[in-house]
Amino acid sequence: MKWRERFYCGEITRSHTGTEVLLMGWVDAIRDHGNLVFIHLRDVRGIVQVVFDPTVSMETCERAVALREEYVIEVRGTVTVREKGTENPHLKTGDIEVFAEELAILSTSKALPFQLSEKAMVFGEEIAKNPQNVDEDLRLQYRYLDLRRPSMQDLLIKRYQIIKCMRDCLHELNFIEIETPFLTQSTPEGARDFLVPSRIHQGRFYALPQSLQLFKQLLMMSGMDRYFQIVRCFRDEDLRPNRQPEFTQLDLEAAFIDEELIYQVIEELTVRMFLLGGIDLPRPFAKITYQEAIDRYGTDRPDLRFAMAFEDVTDIIQDTHYSVFRQIIKQGGEVKGFCGKGQAAALSKNVLQNEYALKIAPSFGAKGMSWMKVVRGKLDSNIVQFFSPSEQNRLIKQFSAEEGDVIMMIGGISRDLVNKVLCNLRLHVAGRLGLIPEERYCPVWVTSFPLFELKDGKVTSQHHPFTMPDRTDFDPTDREVLLGLNSRAYDLVINGEELGGGSIRIHRMDIQRKIFQALGLKQDGLEAKFDFFLKALEYGAPPHGGIALGMDRVIAMILKAPSIREVIAFPKNRSAFCPLTRAPSPVDKSQLNELGLLVRLDEEHPMTRPEGLTQADIDTHNFEGSERISINEVKHVAKLARLRLAGSEANSYQKDLNSILEHVEILKGLDTQETHPMSHAAKSKNVWRDDRPGKSKKTKSIVSNAPVKERGYFKVPKILEG
Ligand code: AMO
Repeated sequence: MKWRERFYCGEITRSHTGTEVLLMGWVDAIRDHGNLVFIHLRDVRGIVQVVFDPTVSMETCERAVALREEYVIEVRGTVTVREKGTENPHLKTGDIEVFAEELAILSTSKALPFQLSEKAMVFGEEIAKNPQNVDEDLRLQYRYLDLRRPSMQDLLIKRYQIIKCMRDCLHELNFIEIETPFLTQSTPEGARDFLVPSRIHQGRFYALPQSLQLFKQLLMMSGMDRYFQIVRCFRDEDLRPNRQPEFTQLDLEAAFIDEELIYQVIEELTVRMFLLGGIDLPRPFAKITYQEAIDRYGTDRPDLRFAMAFEDVTDIIQDTHYSVFRQIIKQGGEVKGFCGKGQAAALSKNVLQNEYALKIAPSFGAKGMSWMKVVRGKLDSNIVQFFSPSEQNRLIKQFSAEEGDVIMMIGGISRDLVNKVLCNLRLHVAGRLGLIPEERYCPVWVTSFPLFELKDGKVTSQHHPFTMPDRTDFDPTDREVLLGLNSRAYDLVINGEELGGGSIRIHRMDIQRKIFQALGLKQDGLEAKFDFFLKALEYGAPPHGGIALGMDRVIAMILKAPSIREVIAFPKNRSAFCPLTRAPSPVDKSQLNELGLLVRLDEEHPMTRPEGLTQADIDTHNFEGSERISINEVKHVAKLARLRLAGSEANSYQKDLNSILEHVEILKGLDTQETHPMSHAAKSKNVWRDDRPGKSKKTKSIVSNAPVKERGYFKVPKILEG
């Protein structure tokens, strides 16, 4: 191999003119002009144009005709300045090209499942778009191809640079990196654990860490002073666009410190990391208490890039003649709203009444919405006549409303619901009217969270049970007192996204026991589970605190990626599945047997068998290593689709699906190497169903299984609607 001689495609410049270079990489694009063949050759550092010219080497030129996209080749040639007018401004190397003298094909490629090339070959041509419109599962299934695209490689390279910058910064600040175990006891972070069965200790399980909480605190008790780790955490929770079942945290902890040290370190770190994306964060970061965030923005993740903070006008309109509000206030409810500065023209009466009041606000859970505009110095609305001049003046003052402003108000008995609806409305209005400055970044520390919250009538920690309360003289049996306590926790929020969270910890056993008592962990047997931790607190624990940043979210924000999946090399899809490796997958009976799980599922705990699953189902699905659809999967999908399947229907669906999958297996064996991918674009349009109940026998027989029939209409699950 001549790797020592190799030049990187993207690093050739005019200064190499006349130099002979050896290039290795992938064929990004080809243009065959009959006499001349042009290709874009791509490697990790860029793209260069290579020309195969019969006058340079007839033999090489003939070989080049066989090239296809994504062939891996080695080219030896001479760097030449491109003729004037043929430069390609889209390429960093666009003013030169390499005239090939030798060509070797190192490996070939099958026809691609989607287009990879992102650079037009000729100036003026449309640049190929990123395949964002390619089905994401297909991209993830062929992730190794997806990652060949320069834009994806760029994200991974920048991810590395951001993490390196963070490591360097923490090193400068005297933090040291220490690894903690993955096979461990579960830590309470509010999600479900991913469990790992033990073969040696049958019937027992490790839990993959949801966070490193206990270990980092133990490291402080070990006297390590300042620790950090860039580490994977695992949480089995409902997926959202910014969540992955495994994700990377920057986890850090320091001893003999208070909140200020954490703010300083994280601000320094965050500012440096964001600078790598060309984003200059304002410092010091703003601070807002949890209560203020909820009262003013309806969320503990406020997006501060735009105003429209909420005002509570309950007091002002207590005696209003507007009966909707009066009833609400009489029943102890509240009325709040926000003011859209200068938006009266953009939000017509029709939009406010027919869209926001009748549709959008109700879609967020409100019964309705009231609105007022400031027109010629006065409030104007369909309800303004119910407010006295003094009430109107006070409303104008409270909202600091001026000519051309729009006030939107929500009343409700439930404070939480009013806040939730207003929060959604604020974001909706700002998004619709383009009021969110995309290039602005507003970091804010959210502080003073409630220590506890009520969940299903039980007192639970809002963060985790190791968070220091703002006072320690409380009675752990007094619910009211407990719910009034605040914690010394803090979250870092930027532009409405929670990037990190942490707290000052409890370092005294007596306080930790009180918290466990307040949470009822003793009764639940959980205190015994954390016995090792409580014991450590008895041997001299220093005051300490820390934080964890969600690195995938931080990096996605810095790189302006549309989802955290774009900045993770091999993410799971939206349903926590890996289309590439097809994990999670069934395992062999022998493997389960070895772990002692088969016995448990089959004999010891027959009740653990999923509902509706017979032993025969388990055998087909799990234990024969079969990849076909089990009857249980058919039933599960039907349940999700709210379809009631008769036993025979489930069987026939299973049969059909399995025969489709068998056919897919046959197709996989086809050699499509020489087949070029085909694309077909067809216009689509919505069609209305024109059949009527009772008229179409076909429809009737299709939906005859529907559980409810009303006035001649069958009520069918959504999936069957047009
Ligand atoms: P917390 O649970 O707030 O705190 O997690 C810290 C940060 O991790 C990120 N994050 C996630 N990112 C992607 N996918 C997920 N499923 C996911 N879950 C969380 C978020 C979050 O702010 N032990 C505490 C930290 C501490 O107290 O020091 C903890 O883990 O950006």
